[in-house]
Amino acid sequence: RVSNMVSQFADSDAAKAMVENGDPLLYEFYGLDLPEDDAGVLQFGTTILYPGKVGDEYFMTKGHFHTILDTSEIYYCLKGKGMMLMETPEGDVDCKELNPGDAIFVPGRWAHRSINIGNEPLIMFFVYRADAGHDYGTIEEKGYRKIVVEKDGKPVMLDNPKWAEK
Ligand code: F6R
Ligand code: ZN
Repeated sequence: RVSNMVSQFADSDAAKAMVENGDPLLYEFYGLDLPEDDAGVLQFGTTILYPGKVGDEYFMTKGHFHTILDTSEIYYCLKGKGMMLMETPEGDVDCKELNPGDAIFVPGRWAHRSINIGNEPLIMFFVYRADAGHDYGTIEEKGYRKIVVEKDGKPVMLDNPKWAEK
């Protein structure tokens, strides 16, 4: 929900107002109950990211690095229109569009956040090595270097005013 990510949206005041006004669901995700300590297992599932904006910024997932940094992931877009915003610890940034039928390879070392830039739920299939682990803390503390906002009806990538090099 928005309440779980208030500080991660550039416009925290808009986020707080939305929390007061029903605290909308941003996304949900589903996977099987597979062992999380087995490098031989592939975890897979579905993410459903709802359409909407906080201020001008599109609804997005928290985003994370994998704890075993060098583990990759594949996303496949089933429905909707989105973007996968990625960055490395060194500061390389990449953003790929997601339309139904597109597969995206998120290489090891790249943090990944999905963003819904359309008007319907963005539904994605994902698969990754089950023991990869999830590091949310780095993104929570520092934020992403870039944000994706709507400008003149189109998505544009801007520097994140909240990003801090720590
Ligand atoms: C797993 C993965 C996805 C995300 C899901 C929710 O490694 O990348 O299953 O976990 O799309 O996003 P986050 O994890 O950023 O809340
Ligand atoms: Zn991941």
